Amino acid sequence: MASRSFLSVFFIYVSLITSLCFAEDPFVNYDFEVSYITASPLGVPQQVIAINGKFPGPGINTTTNNNVVVNVRNKLDEDLLITWAGVQQRRSSWQDGVLGTNCPIPPKWNWTYQFQVKDQIGSFFYFPSLNFQRASGGYGGFIINNRPIIPIPFATPDGDITILIGDWYTRNHTALRRTLNGGKDLGMPDGVLINGKGPYRYNTTLVPDGIDYETIDVHPGKTYRIRVHNVGVSTSLNFRIQNHNLLLAETEGSYTVQQNYTSLDIHVGQSYSFLVTMDQNASTDYYIVASARFVNESLWQRVTGVAILHYTNSKGKASGPLPDPPNDQYDKTFSMNQARSIRWNVSASGARPNPQGSFRYGSINVTDIYVLKNKPPVMINGKRRTTLSGVSFVNPGTPIRLADQYKMKGVYKLDFPSKPLTGSPRMETSIINGTYRGFMEVILQNNDTKVQSYHMNGYAFFVVGMDYGEWTENSRGTYNKWDGIARTTTQVYPGAWTAILISLDNVGVWNLRTENLDSWYLGQETYVRVVNPEANNKTELPMPDNALFCGALSKLQKPQDISLATSITSNRSKFFFTLLLMIYVISSIFR
Ligand SMILES: *[C@@H]1O[C@H](CO)[C@@H](O)[C@H](O)[C@H]1NC(C)=O
Ligand SMILES: *[C@@H]1O[C@H](CO)[C@@H](O)[C@H](O)[C@H]1NC(C)=O
Ligand SMILES: *[C@@H]1O[C@H](CO)[C@@H](O)[C@H](O)[C@H]1NC(C)=O
Ligand SMILES: *[C@@H]1O[C@H](CO)[C@@H](O)[C@H](O)[C@H]1NC(C)=O
Ligand SMILES: *[C@@H]1O[C@H](CO)[C@@H](O)[C@H](O)[C@H]1NC(C)=O
Ligand SMILES: *[C@@H]1O[C@H](CO)[C@@H](O)[C@H](O)[C@H]1NC(C)=O
Ligand SMILES: *[C@@H]1O[C@H](CO)[C@@H](O)[C@H](O)[C@H]1NC(C)=O
Ligand SMILES: *[C@@H]1O[C@H](CO)[C@@H](O)[C@H](O)[C@H]1NC(C)=O
Ligand SMILES: *[C@@H]1O[C@H](CO)[C@@H](O)[C@H](O)[C@H]1NC(C)=O
Ligand SMILES: *[C@@H]1O[C@H](CO)[C@@H](O)[C@H](O)[C@H]1NC(C)=O
Ligand SMILES: *[C@@H]1O[C@H](CO)[C@@H](O)[C@H](O)[C@H]1NC(C)=O
Ligand SMILES: *[C@@H]1O[C@H](CO)[C@@H](O)[C@H](O)[C@H]1NC(C)=O
Repeated sequence: MASRSFLSVFFIYVSLITSLCFAEDPFVNYDFEVSYITASPLGVPQQVIAINGKFPGPGINTTTNNNVVVNVRNKLDEDLLITWAGVQQRRSSWQDGVLGTNCPIPPKWNWTYQFQVKDQIGSFFYFPSLNFQRASGGYGGFIINNRPIIPIPFATPDGDITILIGDWYTRNHTALRRTLNGGKDLGMPDGVLINGKGPYRYNTTLVPDGIDYETIDVHPGKTYRIRVHNVGVSTSLNFRIQNHNLLLAETEGSYTVQQNYTSLDIHVGQSYSFLVTMDQNASTDYYIVASARFVNESLWQRVTGVAILHYTNSKGKASGPLPDPPNDQYDKTFSMNQARSIRWNVSASGARPNPQGSFRYGSINVTDIYVLKNKPPVMINGKRRTTLSGVSFVNPGTPIRLADQYKMKGVYKLDFPSKPLTGSPRMETSIINGTYRGFMEVILQNNDTKVQSYHMNGYAFFVVGMDYGEWTENSRGTYNKWDGIARTTTQVYPGAWTAILISLDNVGVWNLRTENLDSWYLGQETYVRVVNPEANNKTELPMPDNALFCGALSKLQKPQDISLATSITSNRSKFFFTLLLMIYVISSIFR
């Protein structure tokens, strides 16, 4: 008994210290007013989702361990959630912004996200996760800088540039949703946007007059960190800058072995940082290109984004043909080999001052194995749906995490199959039972005809292998057990597999999904539930006091006084947070 109470005193002490550290980490505050605006990125006026009147939305700029507060005001006519793709909500799936963990923010309401970017660095983006809204915008960059005491593995760049690329439809997200609900394909996109703008008129036949394009201004001789994100609906894009090498430096929170690429394939949901030196003679401006990949290029010509790289000493406009995409129509291994060449720099510091490779993932024993296989859309109960291992996910009426909190039964099933089901596909709220502190191997097998990229919230995973054909036990012999990149979104080529390893150290309920918006919308996702059997408020933060209620718990929701929704100041939110902490510390002492 004595030793036990000593232990609990010790734990209170430790949690006090960690809480205080948490409280002392700086706060960064943002106000997001999410609304429709009319814009014509491809020359056709349409309704676009803006944040604070801007499309794309403002960038979020933070440093490791910052406390991020984002007060989101929903001025759309439908529910809203913002998710922070790639930013790991350590210990708090309550802030994750997906339907399995959070109730949506109703129209006219506001909701304040608060989370800490604990032990993380890197380039990510945020976007609205519901109702196909990302197809209408609402996205922006999210940067987590190194703390000043931890060196980055390259010279400090002379500038930091975010480039958001993505396919785009002139139909809005409600129209696209209607197409999918009607059992049809979306068809070819109408173009590719770069930072919310249409293509530069590089060819007067292909690009109509009067389209606003993006210009990136640079100084000769300088080196910039260019962070590129594919925020689009479903198209893999090849990214390149005419006459300039892209020195790859970081991928979704991990520093890579630095290598030059003339172009790189960026799949939906993926993020890369390149170091680009302005080493050309500026005889003209240069093209920045993002073009559709693995398609018939003569049919898909219009699905090309073109922006301009403009040196301050430039002698004229860019002209002539665009730089060539990879010429690999008959070589399906080119892109995969490029993906395999992206390696972790195991000796660089990450968010902490120790080598990234100090976590020897290759020597850890696997505890859970899941083979997840997707297929082209199928009909289930008269609906056109997508599946993962034969299960088409149905969002629960009450979010899974909330249902657990209130000990509700029957909201979901913990029975997601570890191998693809062979029977007829079904629609269910079936999720993966993760083992806390386990080490999970997931094999993603793509039986569809186009690339899918898979993303897991709350975690970065090690990409240890990919190849064409069916994965077998023998495929493990090809795994990279040393410097596979740790990232949050990986591509899986059609008719191929990708293997990832995940260290299940983050308690919560975490979305595992395809980032291709159409496949996701039609059911290609699940969740991984990770529970610490010894529940406490250290491995998982308590439910925030502003948590929204919905579904079977909607009677707990207090109405929101919409008239009070004015903007918060940083001091006020800090004050409330400190107050909360004090309540928490006092309550844990008297427990
Ligand atoms: C979307 O487009 C449809 C027409 O296709 C239009 O009726 C509707 O008002 C638009 N909605 C939004 C929210 O932009
Ligand atoms: C982010 O903020 C830091 C200061 O905290 C600043 O030095 C840096 O330039 C900012 N980065 C961007 C991309 O705005
Ligand atoms: C809504 O915003 C107001 C201030 O603008 C803030 O006081 C309040 O806490 C916010 N509501 C929620 C639920 O976050
Ligand atoms: C890896 O990181 C180290 C430490 O910062 C750096 O010195 C080295 O140049 C990097 N190696 C490569 C190949 O990028
Ligand atoms: C513009 O594109 C069209 C269609 O692909 C092509 O026939 C034409 O040669 C291009 N024009 C120039 C100047 O490159
Ligand atoms: C990358 O290319 C640049 C020229 O653009 C060159 O100066 C640099 O040495 C190359 N770096 C590597 C690692 O190949
Ligand atoms: C600038 O570089 C281009 C291509 O590298 C070359 O064709 C051109 O002659 C150069 N112009 C000058 C003025 O050096
Ligand atoms: C691409 O489309 C064009 C025009 O329809 C067609 O003539 C050509 O055969 C197609 N190419 C391939 C490789 O399918
Ligand atoms: C992994 O499992 C093997 C036997 O299956 C065992 O010998 C080894 O010690 C285990 N390694 C670790 C790190 O637990
Ligand atoms: C989930 O996994 C845990 C072990 O991690 C096990 O104790 C529990 O019985 C499993 N639950 C179900 C429903 O399979
Ligand atoms: C899909 O799976 C079937 C059965 O395993 C296989 O015959 C077929 O080649 C696969 N197709 C793709 C594109 O992976
Ligand atoms: C966690 O904190 C909440 C208050 O925020 C308290 O009600 C709860 O009992 C705590 N849980 C544990 C396991 O300490």
